[in-house]
Amino acid sequence: MTSEISYSKIEVFSCNKEMKRLSKTVKLFAILTFGCQMNVRDSETIKGILESLGYIETDNPDEADLLLFNTCSVRENPERKVYGRIQQYKEDSGKIIGICGCMVQQGAEFEYIKNELPQVRLVFGTHNIHELPELLEKAEEGQRVLNVWEDKQEIVEGLPAKRDQGVKAFVNISYGCNNFCTYCIVPYTRGREKSRTPENIISEVRELAQNGYKEVTLLGQNVNSYGKDLGLDFAALLEKVHEVEGIERIRFTTSHPKDLSDRLIAAFKNLPKLCEHLHLPVQAGSDRILKKMNRRYTREQYLELVAKLRDAVPGIALTTDIIVGFPGETEEDFLQTLDIVEKVRYDSAFTFIYSPRKGTPAAEMPDQVDEEVKKERIYRLIDLQNRISGEINQEIVGSTVEVLVEGTSKTDPSRLTGKTRSNKTINFPGDVGLIGRTVQVEVTAGKLSSLEGKLKE
Ligand code: SAH
Ligand code: SF4
Ligand code: F3S
Repeated sequence: MTSEISYSKIEVFSCNKEMKRLSKTVKLFAILTFGCQMNVRDSETIKGILESLGYIETDNPDEADLLLFNTCSVRENPERKVYGRIQQYKEDSGKIIGICGCMVQQGAEFEYIKNELPQVRLVFGTHNIHELPELLEKAEEGQRVLNVWEDKQEIVEGLPAKRDQGVKAFVNISYGCNNFCTYCIVPYTRGREKSRTPENIISEVRELAQNGYKEVTLLGQNVNSYGKDLGLDFAALLEKVHEVEGIERIRFTTSHPKDLSDRLIAAFKNLPKLCEHLHLPVQAGSDRILKKMNRRYTREQYLELVAKLRDAVPGIALTTDIIVGFPGETEEDFLQTLDIVEKVRYDSAFTFIYSPRKGTPAAEMPDQVDEEVKKERIYRLIDLQNRISGEINQEIVGSTVEVLVEGTSKTDPSRLTGKTRSNKTINFPGDVGLIGRTVQVEVTAGKLSSLEGKLKE
């Protein structure tokens, strides 16, 4: 199968080059996507728009006529990476270099790009992706186009999308965020929360089902507050999505603990397609730090939610995000984080070193934690979480799990890869004809971040 895949890729490459040689009108684009699922989904829209304009995608940035960076600002690292990559290109690179996404939504970064990176010929933001055809036309004519909107009133529907694979898909249900956690740049880069109407969401999910997709992940910065602006409720939306024939699995991300309703907990029991996994970012285990983060729940409230969820859905997989080294975090506070991790026993966790973001309240707070202390803490946290993840994955060895087969394994093309309902990656030998199908697999080994298995007859 892999040889078939790479063969067809090579063929597309040489075909692209051949077409380019034959006709100057064929234009190639490449897009490098950083950040979260929102950006991945936006890149799908950007690709859809570009293909509707006659551009062809290449995954080789060097041969692209248009090279776009869809950027993330959530921490300093992804920003640095983008600047590092862009500095490799000179003004006369012969291609249109563009930046979009969250970085350009910040005044300081926008100014830096405008003044210091003349090789960047096209800048558009998270709110005006739909303007890309007009902006690109100007850039193609040789103008330098820098156009970013601060926010927007309306959601633009009906944009094309080029999705990567035919098994699972992301579907936006809301955009932006109203929570203003004090460390977070997202409310500034994505604007205020706006919900899509259920009609638009359902019609997209139906279309996906008609095109053979089996799983949808509903996306929002805080899906639990979906519909507040429309007088609607997230759990009610889930019930509607559940009715769409052909869709076998439903997931969503991300849930803010302060808005997790009893109705949503009940949905896990009542909606069989809703997979038993919840990503519930805790961020910190100390009440003092949670308050400074403006998270608006206490550790007790969080632990109560976890108890309710486990009571309603025994065995539900829980994952989380944790920040270490938030300003003022003491060793005592950090021990509270380790303690909540021990108590909840997450299946896995994304752990981050606090990164000050210009314009957010936390960046101005006194008592910024020393980098060495932050590092030492994150290593301790990762050690603990690895131990727990390993233990949980060992405990399920010998059990049989339902797997939606997504493709062949990246590291071993003779094996299939898929996800359990609890969102764990599992690899097992099997025929490529099973891709897109739901199968029963016995877990034969549990590693840190994935499982091994064998198909049940
Ligand atoms: N809306 C989502 C997450 C958005 S950002 C939510 O609220 O859960 C993804 C994660 O990045 C956050 O959960 C947080 O753990 C982390 N993060 C955000 N800002 C950060 C910062 N300034 N430094 C380090 N990590 C950060
Ligand atoms: Fe950022 Fe908090 Fe909004 Fe998540 S809920 S995007 S962490 S401000
Ligand atoms: Fe990054 Fe923007 Fe997502 S800042 S995490 S890409 S919303």
